[in-house]
Amino acid sequence: MALKTVVVAVGLLLGSAQAITVEGMLAAPRRSTGILSPNGDRALFSETKFNWTSEKSTTSWYFLNTATGNTTKAPFGSAVSEVVWVGDTEDSILYLNSTNAEIPGGVTLYTVDLGSDSFEPKLVASLHAPISGLKAVKTKPGGINFVGNALAYITAERYAVFSGVLNGGNGSYTYGGELKNLLLGINYTVTRPESPVQGSSSDPGDYDLSPDGKLVAFRSKAPELPKANYTASYIYIVPHDGSETAVQVNGPGTTAPETAKGASGYPTWSHDSTKLAFGQQDGVYYESDRFKLYVADVDGLNAKVRPVAEEWDSSPSGLQWSPDDADLWVTSELHAATCLWLVPADAAADFKPVNFTGPDTVLSDFNILPDGSAFVSAASSWSSRIFYNQYPGQDKKILFTANEIDPELEGLKPDSVSNFWVTNDDGDNIQTFVFYPTDFDPSKKYPLAFIIHGGPQSTQGDNWSVRWNLRLWADQGFVVTATQFTGSPSYSQAFTDKIQANWGGTPYTDLVKVFEHLRENIDYIDTDRAIAAGASFGCYMTNWIQGHDLGREFKALVCHDGKINQVGSYATDELWFIQRDNNGTVWNDRANYEQWDPLAHFKNASTPQFIIHNDLDYRVVQAEGLQTFNILQSLGVPSRFLHFPDEGHWVTNRQNSLLWHKSIFNWIRYWVGLDEELMTEGVITQ
Ligand SMILES: *[C@@H]1O[C@H](CO)[C@@H](O)[C@H](O)[C@H]1NC(C)=O
Ligand SMILES: *[C@@H]1O[C@H](CO)[C@@H](O)[C@H](O)[C@H]1NC(C)=O
Ligand SMILES: *[C@@H]1O[C@H](CO)[C@@H](O)[C@H](O)[C@H]1NC(C)=O
Ligand SMILES: *[C@@H]1O[C@H](CO)[C@@H](O)[C@H](O)[C@H]1NC(C)=O
Ligand SMILES: *[C@@H]1O[C@H](CO)[C@@H](O)[C@H](O)[C@H]1NC(C)=O
Ligand SMILES: *[C@@H]1O[C@H](CO)[C@@H](O)[C@H](O)[C@H]1NC(C)=O
Ligand SMILES: *[C@@H]1O[C@H](CO)[C@@H](O)[C@H](O)[C@H]1NC(C)=O
Ligand SMILES: *[C@@H]1O[C@H](CO)[C@@H](O)[C@H](O)[C@H]1NC(C)=O
Ligand SMILES: *[C@@H]1O[C@H](CO)[C@@H](O)[C@H](O)[C@H]1NC(C)=O
Ligand SMILES: *[C@@H]1O[C@H](CO)[C@@H](O)[C@H](O)[C@H]1NC(C)=O
Repeated sequence: MALKTVVVAVGLLLGSAQAITVEGMLAAPRRSTGILSPNGDRALFSETKFNWTSEKSTTSWYFLNTATGNTTKAPFGSAVSEVVWVGDTEDSILYLNSTNAEIPGGVTLYTVDLGSDSFEPKLVASLHAPISGLKAVKTKPGGINFVGNALAYITAERYAVFSGVLNGGNGSYTYGGELKNLLLGINYTVTRPESPVQGSSSDPGDYDLSPDGKLVAFRSKAPELPKANYTASYIYIVPHDGSETAVQVNGPGTTAPETAKGASGYPTWSHDSTKLAFGQQDGVYYESDRFKLYVADVDGLNAKVRPVAEEWDSSPSGLQWSPDDADLWVTSELHAATCLWLVPADAAADFKPVNFTGPDTVLSDFNILPDGSAFVSAASSWSSRIFYNQYPGQDKKILFTANEIDPELEGLKPDSVSNFWVTNDDGDNIQTFVFYPTDFDPSKKYPLAFIIHGGPQSTQGDNWSVRWNLRLWADQGFVVTATQFTGSPSYSQAFTDKIQANWGGTPYTDLVKVFEHLRENIDYIDTDRAIAAGASFGCYMTNWIQGHDLGREFKALVCHDGKINQVGSYATDELWFIQRDNNGTVWNDRANYEQWDPLAHFKNASTPQFIIHNDLDYRVVQAEGLQTFNILQSLGVPSRFLHFPDEGHWVTNRQNSLLWHKSIFNWIRYWVGLDEELMTEGVITQ
């Protein structure tokens, strides 16, 4: 009840127009990427909406016409969790029903021909496990081979890729009745095989089924290394029927180059099922090393690996084969946006790919249409979902954009974001994104929200997010900036690598330089009324700023789930990360940890600071936020602490997110003079 009262009160205080509100952003449709039909005429996507009155979300499915962009409702809804276009006709689908009337906790598979006038799905398999990440192909005998993943409760709980068969055809399939765990039998010395590799989510991109249905490729962490200490992972291939144990494609003792020791990713079969493309990093414990492309020629379970365009200074995140298997269509990030690039599958080491989509939107997924164009699912700071078509070398044709459809996003436009570059002391060009509030008027002056991204090896650009949606922050009455300081990827690998053993060094001086640039050059920004905020590394940096001169430039700070005590770094689930970033261990190289320790500089802390730290955060443990708060209280610095007992490193629950946003926005608006008073104590302290 208290919560709702506060929502109204804050809403009333906001005088200026808002194109987007917290409640609207959280309730607005969240759409999946498009799933393209075999002949490319239409794509299916799901849409999940939230209702603040019932506090429930509902999912619908839609067809998108890939020629006109028209959408029509599909004849199924929330029960369907995944769809694969496969079956007897080009309109046939196999779908995953996330319920099972007979087996509690199980799921079911249905086939249906969407070309017929009536919707008459047939139940073809009742599965006893909560399989997800469904992939399926039609086989020569007329049946369907499929794979999916689930927790395998055989010994210790580990995820595994399972295969199954639907026999028959001509609209009548029968389930083979057995799921095979394709990871069984792999020998290991230290780390038990697991696929998909478990991180913040379970990624179906970790495995792929060959188009002829005979082989499955999957990724698992290095079996000979401790998994918290190393990022190394390898690709394996295995017969779909599980008749032989999986064989390692890359890593020690294979045909892959010896320099390739790190994390592998996105194994992808060619259409003729004879080649497997994938990415792998060199660094054995460096998660932000550059992914290089490889192609393996596969004959039976023998694979011969060769590098592709290995000198390309970009870090691919996914790929697909061109229809003739000659080229790889590769996704890779450029200037904080994922773009699409063409790379011949036999490209020489010095081949320089060019992006054929731009960094003006962020690509989430794509498919190649029969006419040779790309069908792209993308997003931007002004639209949560954009579908477009683009031929290489031509302009894109937008089919669908959420900001023109969703009432919650009405008023969001591409002109509410821009970017600028400044050169730092190393001669590197640093990009900063700027987000403007609704009805922005450059003759007026706005307080500044100076946002510092997390990672630190990640970016925060012109992208959609339901956490840290910077266009939403702007509509609280601020001009918002997000600087891609030294260490950010997508500018060059050397630029990313420079943050090693340098956390409070160049990234800090970059931020100082950008702040001074804003103060000296941008009339519409009132740098005397500025706040800084960040999560994770962005919170670490906020704490660093609090103890240094830049801290005195801000009226208030906001710090979400970040570190204050560098020497306490080993309380994390990613040892490889802290060891690589601090260039050593805390027992041998303690000075590296102490050099950039925010706590050592906290006696100078004096800027009001809001701290959020969640109890289930094992990336950066809650004690970091709690001690930041206790020290600020001891120093007499105005400070507040908010924690969610049921959230980890990210706030995902919508009701929690509402409180997170309202509390922070109230705090920053108060300290720059936009609101007259802070919300009551009882509401702030959950
Ligand atoms: C939201 O839920 C309430 C209560 O169940 C219902 O009355 C209302 O119609 C729903 N709104 C929409 C847009 O579905
Ligand atoms: C889109 O659909 C609407 C109604 O569903 C129809 O009137 C219109 O002609 C369609 N547009 C195109 C380009 O097909
Ligand atoms: C999903 O499965 C349930 C039974 O578990 C069934 O009642 C429902 O009709 C199915 N829905 C679809 C769209 O297949
Ligand atoms: C499907 O039907 C066609 C035509 O009736 C027949 O030739 C074919 O053998 C059938 N295939 C299967 C797998 O039943
Ligand atoms: C696993 O190790 C056992 C014992 O050394 C050996 O017999 C077996 O062949 C190995 N399996 C594989 C798939 O390498
Ligand atoms: C973990 O990594 C650190 C740093 O690379 C190394 O010093 C240590 O020996 C590793 N431990 C194990 C068990 O591999
Ligand atoms: C863009 O945002 C989406 C959704 O939050 C995220 O999955 C993706 O990694 C982001 N990409 C970039 C380049 O920021
Ligand atoms: C590729 O990226 C560059 C650099 O941002 C951009 O200028 C160019 O327009 C992009 N190319 C295409 C075809 O969009
Ligand atoms: C703390 O403040 C003092 C006095 O203003 C200053 O001399 C010192 O350099 C500051 N320390 C840091 C770490 O900024
Ligand atoms: C990391 O440590 C090694 C060994 O002490 C040293 O040679 C190297 O310069 C260090 N790298 C950085 C970036 O500090």
